[in-house]
Formats: sequence, C-alpha cells, structure tokens
Amino acid sequence: MAFYVTTPIYYVNAAPHLGHAYTTIAADVLARHMRQRGEDVFFLTGTDEHGEPVALAAQREGITPRELGDRNVERFKALLPRLGVTNDFFIRTSDPEHADRVREILQRVHDNGHVYKGTYEGWYCPRCADFKSEQEAGEDYTCPIHRIPLDREKEDNWFFRLSAFQTDLERLLADDSDFVVPRAFRNEARVFVAQGLRDVSLTRANLKWGISVPWDPDQVFYVWFDALLNYVTALAFARPGEDLTDRFWPATFHLIGKDILKFHAVYWPALLLAAGLPVPDHLYVHGFLLMRDSEGVDHKMSKSLGNVLDPFEVLDNYGADPLRFYVLREVSFGQDGGVSTAGFAARYESELANELGNLAGRVTAMVVRYRDGNVPQVELDPALGAEIDVAPAAVCRHLDSAQLSPALEAAWQPVRRLNRYVEEQAPWALAKDPDSAGDLDRTLASLVEGVRVVAVVLLPWLPETMGRLLDALGARDRSLAAARYGAEVPTGVERLAPLFPKVEQIEATA
Ligand code: MSP
Repeated sequence: MAFYVTTPIYYVNAAPHLGHAYTTIAADVLARHMRQRGEDVFFLTGTDEHGEPVALAAQREGITPRELGDRNVERFKALLPRLGVTNDFFIRTSDPEHADRVREILQRVHDNGHVYKGTYEGWYCPRCADFKSEQEAGEDYTCPIHRIPLDREKEDNWFFRLSAFQTDLERLLADDSDFVVPRAFRNEARVFVAQGLRDVSLTRANLKWGISVPWDPDQVFYVWFDALLNYVTALAFARPGEDLTDRFWPATFHLIGKDILKFHAVYWPALLLAAGLPVPDHLYVHGFLLMRDSEGVDHKMSKSLGNVLDPFEVLDNYGADPLRFYVLREVSFGQDGGVSTAGFAARYESELANELGNLAGRVTAMVVRYRDGNVPQVELDPALGAEIDVAPAAVCRHLDSAQLSPALEAAWQPVRRLNRYVEEQAPWALAKDPDSAGDLDRTLASLVEGVRVVAVVLLPWLPETMGRLLDALGARDRSLAAARYGAEVPTGVERLAPLFPKVEQIEATA
C-alpha cells in the first residue's frame, strides 16, 4: 500500500529550530514504521522560499531572497541527517520544476473558471503572509500572532473563488470525517468555514519574489498557493525521468502545526478540487513546543527571547535518538507542551538510561557472564511472550492514525514488563544454584528474545541505538514481521557499550 507523508515546508527566513525539527522527527517515525511494515513509502520535506516572509528578511540583511534561501536551506538540509531523518526528497519552492508545475496547475484552475480579476482592499501581515479580517486586525490593526502593525493594502489582483467550495468543505469537515485529526482542530476548521467562505487573492501585484502568473506575468502567485502545491509538484520531479504522482497522490498524512490549519484544511482542499485533483486522506495537526522555564512556566519559543532549545547543541552532546525520543515522549502529539533542558536530562536519565539502557545492558551482560554469550536454545516463557506480543499490534493500530504518543506508550510497555521480569526471576540468584540451570536458561532466552522484539518495535523512534542493540543480538530481520516473540530468537550476544551513557560519561569523552 502507498504511504505518503509530508512535513510543512519551512520558511528560509531564519535558521531551523526545535519546532521545525519536531514535525520532521514525527514524520520520520511514521515513515520508518511504515517501511518496517513493507509499505510503499514516500516522505517529503523541504523549504518555502517565496513571498514576503523571505523577501523582507533578505531585505533586512541587504541580500537577495535567493541568496538568503541558498544560505539557509543548507542549515535545514544539514539538520536532517543529524536527526536521523530518512526523507525521500527535499523540495525547494525555488526549484524550476516546481515553478513549472505550479503554473500548469494554476492555469488549469483558471481555465476551469475558478479565477477572476478583482481588487483586494484590506489588512495583510507580511510575516504570516496572510490577509486579516477587520475582526482579526482588532482596534489597533496589529497582527494577533506577530504583534506587528498590519499593512493596509489595495491592489488589483486575481482572486480564487474559494466561496464556490463552501458545500464541499462542509462535507469534508463533517462530524463523521477524519480528514483533520485530532478532532478539536477539525472543529476549528469547521467554525471557520461556517462563518461563510470569502474569495481570496491568488496573486500579488506588488511583490516580485515569487512564481510569475502565466496569464498576467506582472504578477506572482500568492506564496501560500505556491507553497501548498509543493506536496503535489514534488512527486513529478523527485525521481528524474519518473513521475510518482499516480503512485503516491493523494497524500496519506500531511503533518502540520496548528498555526497553519486554515491554509491546509480550507484553502488546500478547495484548490485541489478546483484543479480536479484528489484531496489528501488526512491532516494531522500538532501543537506547539513551548519552552518551560525553571519555575515550570511555559513560554512561546522565540529567537528574540533567547529561550530556544537549540537542536544542534542537544545533537552535539547526545546524538539524534535521545532528542527524537524526548520531543515525542514529553509532549502529547496534538497538544501544546513545555520542553526544557532540565526536562530533557530527567527523561534521558530515567527512561532511556535507567529503563531501556539498563535493561539492554543487563540482559546482554548476563548472557555473556552466565552462558559465555550463547543464548540457550530452549523453550521460552509463553506467559511473557503473550504480554510482549500485545505491543507491536497496538503500535500499528495507533500509527495507522498517526497517534504518535499512544504508540510510543504502547512500545514502552514491554520495556517496563521486561524490567519487572528481571526482578521477578532474579537470574543472579538462579545462577548461584546449579539445580536452577534450566530456569536460568529459560529466563535468559526469554529476556533476550523480549529485548529483541522491543528493539524492533522501537526502531522508528531510536534508529541508531536500537540498530546497535539488534546488531549485538545478531538480529537480521528489522521488519515488523520480526516483532513477534519467538520469531528470531538470537543464538549469541555480544557485549554492548552503554546505549545511553550517563551525562558525565559523555562529557568525559567529549
Ligand atoms: N512555510 C510555511 C508552511 C508552508 S506548508 C505548505 C510555514 N513555515 S514555518 O517555517 O513558519 O513553520 C513551519 C512549521 O513549523 C509549522 O507547522 C509550524 O507550526 C511549525 N512550528 C514553528 N514553531 C513551532 C513550535 N515552537 N512548536 C511546534 N511547531 C512549530 O509556516
């Protein structure tokens, strides 16, 4: 089955921060998991390079928007391998192939009768690249998001007949629809539609930095329409000489932050319908990562406040896996939540080092110590197996609907169960009693096999460390079919360096 997952494309007006890394990590977990299930996966990320957000930032620095894009795109690209992200393509909206496809599709929207000439008069926030209603502008005419004065605009441009899609959108966002998840965001989009859809500007007359309009070359397309189309255009040129559109469109999941809901839940499906293209299956909307201060109060992450948890710094000190785990474990996916350096250190210690790292370390060390590294080939404890085997199925069920937090919780259950099993069976006591050799064999084999299953299930979250653990267990099959107790019992184990060394150990070797 085809599985197509996307992240928003990031504005190149600044360097990437943890908020950007967050969506990309989430998409990567889904992509890796679906590959483990043998699905035909395509995972897209990239950068949004046109419009005022980039043009104005470039102007402030005294360089061209293209120069700014070329410089910052490298930072976004550099972050991906460091996060262990396995995207199949990276699109830049400045790619000429993207521009050609955008012109082609929007020409079709025009020819289908959904575009007309009009005059836009009203408020505009250049940072949001969004038109604001009188209500949003408020009494002081500032952007409610960026708190900057709004521009009063009056320009002749081309309008997209969004209002013609009122009924289609009401249907798409109806009670029984799972087009937008979680449900609270579906309701938010529905409220917006219920107010009555107004036509929107499709082009901009006073801006040069964008894709020129084929039927009116003095204008460029409004950046949001150019940007949204990336999800479709990329498929046409990601693989030279091959068009992947039929294979992967419509997308299975667009992952987005809650601030860009209106564009994805309202403009985007309407635009696709106008172009005669199928709408995506689902949008998964996540909340914001907030910075938690030492008093436990959460703040919006902001470069100007200097409170940004720098992903590069965490990656330098710990590598990708702990960061991937932390952001998806600490904050319930779909809600806002606070993150902090102290919170990171606490979870690293309690869950990764103490629960998972110690389990893997102890189990492998005991097999080395008591059985020279050979895993006894005996019958496994079936009761333990029954408990472990619940996890993979639960993870699949949750990830089918991109429920990343319950999925990780389900994957973590066997870690806890195995730690209890170690305590219950006390292999060190069995090892002292020659009459208990059979029990020790069975305990060790059951533990090793349990740890192997856990490692396979956790691979999408912790690809590097679980990969290392599976290597130490000699486990070859990394597909989810192998995540079944008894499927591939290891025959021997190797000694394992700590998967999640204590912070002091990391510092000592740095
Ligand atoms: N370029 C547009 C998206 C176009 S998609 C066709 C854009 N770019 S952005 O760089 O400003 O934001 C990209 C994504 O990062 C958004 O989904 C936004 O919600 C997310 N985040 C930015 N800061 C964030 C946090 N602090 N926490 C979580 N996500 C955040 O919007």
